[in-house]
Amino acid sequence: MIATRLGRFVTTSPALTSFAARRFSPLQFDPEHVASNDEVDVLLEAAGRAPSAGNSQPWAFIVGKRGDGVHAKLVRHLSRSSSAWAPGASMLVANLSQRFVEDTEMDYSEFAHYDLGQAVAHLTFQAHAMGMSVHQFRAFDQDAVAREFSVPSHWEVTTMAAIGVPTAEAWSMTGAGTSRERRSPTQITWARGS
Ligand SMILES: Cc1cc2nc3c(=O)[nH]c(=O)nc-3n(C[C@H](O)[C@H](O)[C@H](O)COP(=O)(O)O)c2cc1C
Repeated sequence: MIATRLGRFVTTSPALTSFAARRFSPLQFDPEHVASNDEVDVLLEAAGRAPSAGNSQPWAFIVGKRGDGVHAKLVRHLSRSSSAWAPGASMLVANLSQRFVEDTEMDYSEFAHYDLGQAVAHLTFQAHAMGMSVHQFRAFDQDAVAREFSVPSHWEVTTMAAIGVPTAEAWSMTGAGTSRERRSPTQITWARGS
């Protein structure tokens, strides 16, 4: 692989898209950047266009823009670690997956988590194209968010995402318990023909 240095930490093939090479999960966001309602609509549309098993679309989103009431409620349930950086993002989004068919113990889709992940990935591609970055995270109280927004028991509040414009400093910041190290293409290849 031809190596080139992009940003502070990424050594990649020049054939990679800018998204694949430069995407990262910022730990600091521009506190002046405001996301418009149109931008929120486009991000949700991108998420909703992800593929899903049987087109089951087992996803839903709770969206708060910095300064609005939904954002304030989401901020209340961040953990100590995420509350250090996530509230400054332009948006906080809670990512929900439908786990059960309503009023049953039947799985809604065995791929609900997989599909929600793809939807958030699609949102992430779109955000990148709009000059924003996404930091997905688990460091919040899932049950408290579910209670706050009356999420019924057949849905799960799975992850959250902080979305906004990273500061210049964010490119060189590292967080406890997170790493940007990657296994190489060779290491992640289980089997491959010649
Ligand atoms: C499902 C999921 C949960 C995550 N949880 C956290 C978290 O709780 N706190 C955090 O700082 N980052 C969290 N991350 C971000 C990862 O730590 C990050 O993606 C990884 O270290 C690779 O760094 P990069 O995204 O900058 O390439 C999470 C990412 C995913 C996909």
